[in-house]
Amino acid sequence: MDNDIQEVLFDQQQIQEAADRLGQTITKDYAGQKPLVLSVLKGAYLWTADVIRKIDLYVDLEFIKISSYHGGVSSSNEIALVTDVQSDVKGRDVLILEDIVDTGQSLQFLEDLLLSRGAHSVRVATLLDKKEGRKVDIKADYVGFDVRNEFVVGYGLDYKGLYRNLPYVGILKQSIYS
Ligand code: PRP
Ligand code: MN
Ligand code: MG
Repeated sequence: MDNDIQEVLFDQQQIQEAADRLGQTITKDYAGQKPLVLSVLKGAYLWTADVIRKIDLYVDLEFIKISSYHGGVSSSNEIALVTDVQSDVKGRDVLILEDIVDTGQSLQFLEDLLLSRGAHSVRVATLLDKKEGRKVDIKADYVGFDVRNEFVVGYGLDYKGLYRNLPYVGILKQSIYS
């Protein structure tokens, strides 16, 4: 797998530091609250495990599975809700955990869904923020790292379902997908 990577952007240690930094900020910002941490599958599974252990608060953990890329390199405009949450979000302070915000369409879809169900507040903590990729006007509240407009994989992020288990985030060689 390493041979398919053009450049390592963020290694395990850098990602741990980002999780630590965000976890501390989130702990302060949500002091006295019991947020509902909402992990967006599949991409956010590793990042969720890291960040949640750095949040020193009572939290609930929920998962939702949506799909926009359908395994490819570009976001489709069709977001599919694959597996829904299993608890009521009404009145809850929801903290979405994402691996990457790119076009922003997945995040927009989730925010709309949660607010329509009566969530009290919705914020997002993302490992990566690809601001150049935005198609909708939406901002991430907590960002691990900004990334350039390149196709990145690893640490949860996939190409055709693969590379999620790389212990770092790296740029996929163009020869792999073109
Ligand atoms: C990817 C990524 C984010 C979303 C970001 O998920 O994990 O959830 O797309 O892209 P956007 O800002 O352009 O909407 P994907 O649809 O690939 O599903 P996956 O997490 O199961 O890989
Ligand atoms: Mn995803
Ligand atoms: Mg994907």
